[in-house]
Amino acid sequence: MTGPNEPHPSLENWWMPFTANTAFRSSPRMVVGARGTHYIAQDGREILDALCGLVCSPAGHGRPEIAEAIHRVANELSYMPPFQHGHPIGFETAERLVRMTPEGLDHVFFTNSGSESTETALKIALLYHRRRGEGHRQFLVGRERAYHGVNFGAMSVGGIPANRDGFGSGLPGVVHLRHTWLPENRFTKGEPAHGVELAEDLERFCWSLGGQNIAACIVEPVAGSTGVLVPPRGYLERLRAICDAHGILLIFDEVITGFGRLSTNFGAQRFDVRPDIMCTAKGLTNGVVPMGAVVAAEHVYDAITEGGTRAGIELFHGYTCSAHPVACAAALASMEIFEREGLVERAQKLEDYFLDAIFSLQDLPVVTDVRGHGIMAAVDLAPDGAPGTRGLRALQEFWDAGVMVKFTADSFLVGPALVIERHEIDEIVRRIRGVLERYDEGRKQ
Ligand SMILES: Cc1ncc(COP(=O)(O)O)c(C=O)c1O
Repeated sequence: MTGPNEPHPSLENWWMPFTANTAFRSSPRMVVGARGTHYIAQDGREILDALCGLVCSPAGHGRPEIAEAIHRVANELSYMPPFQHGHPIGFETAERLVRMTPEGLDHVFFTNSGSESTETALKIALLYHRRRGEGHRQFLVGRERAYHGVNFGAMSVGGIPANRDGFGSGLPGVVHLRHTWLPENRFTKGEPAHGVELAEDLERFCWSLGGQNIAACIVEPVAGSTGVLVPPRGYLERLRAICDAHGILLIFDEVITGFGRLSTNFGAQRFDVRPDIMCTAKGLTNGVVPMGAVVAAEHVYDAITEGGTRAGIELFHGYTCSAHPVACAAALASMEIFEREGLVERAQKLEDYFLDAIFSLQDLPVVTDVRGHGIMAAVDLAPDGAPGTRGLRALQEFWDAGVMVKFTADSFLVGPALVIERHEIDEIVRRIRGVLERYDEGRKQ
């Protein structure tokens, strides 16, 4: 790897994802190392990582336990086809994960990313109904401002127009609930008081499309990528009740909210609402090796495995690298750290401090809203011209100030590693404030 002060490789050939490629080449933000809660930039500067990667490294960067586990397994079993063959470490990883998931969610299907997890969950939902003789259930319900990944299914149920624009019409039979951001909830810590009635959108779809025709409703317990939209009080319970009344499967996309982000193992436990299917990725391996997992409830697994071709393959779906041994090694080592270091308990103790620190930015004129729950928060900035213009400028200025966050248009997301110290949170907020103080626009009402 190119170290500090060594020459850059050519920037021409890597077509970077979700990146302003041309702008990047004229002002590259290059990272050459990561330790704990910070990155090392190519110019040698230390950049505080306020987002633990892309909310995927709750145990912090550079954990030797994970690196050693990967090294060991790569030497022992570098690859093995997961179709019709198994390996102990795959079963061990599934068993270990199930110890963290809500009661009754026991069957793990491994993928390689969050996008593949949501794609897999949607296919499982359709097949579940088909196997039970209800193949007419074809509608899928997503939500505005949701992010479930970039594959066609995930893109279709997702609710970010820019992610669909230019990529065709997507899956047929997809409808979207309204998002849950409401102006009267601005600057609310935790679950906002207003908006439980937005869950009735699902009931309206049951009326207009026929509840008996809907296969699944997929939501993030807290919408992450579009700026930490915490569900209004009672909203998820109401979605669960409507799904139960109409036989619809409830899918929680926990790709961000999993692994301690909400001070519980998963969001389902924080809100005490149990989905039928749960999607995870990111923190499963602490972001070290790509891996995702879909965890299905007993009734879903049974309907598919018992209701199908008994002697044959029950689910015609899988990936070359499902349960890759090296990814399993990383997942096991990460879950071991998670438990040994009590990261959930750590998050619980840190939560109020973290949220108070981020909410302290609300006095700045350019800040139009702050939201947060657990160890994740978002700050909206008043736009400056076309949406995203302010965000792009701030991203660069944050980088120059030595702090990394993620921007979606003019909102930024903060979700540091759960091992972060209080003084590091203070420093992140100090650096962010230093940039935002230079923006003097009045708060938009
Ligand atoms: C809630 C959610 N689902 C799915 C994904 C997609 O994950 P990946 O980028 O690993 O495909 C993301 C990524 O940020 C996410 O936040």
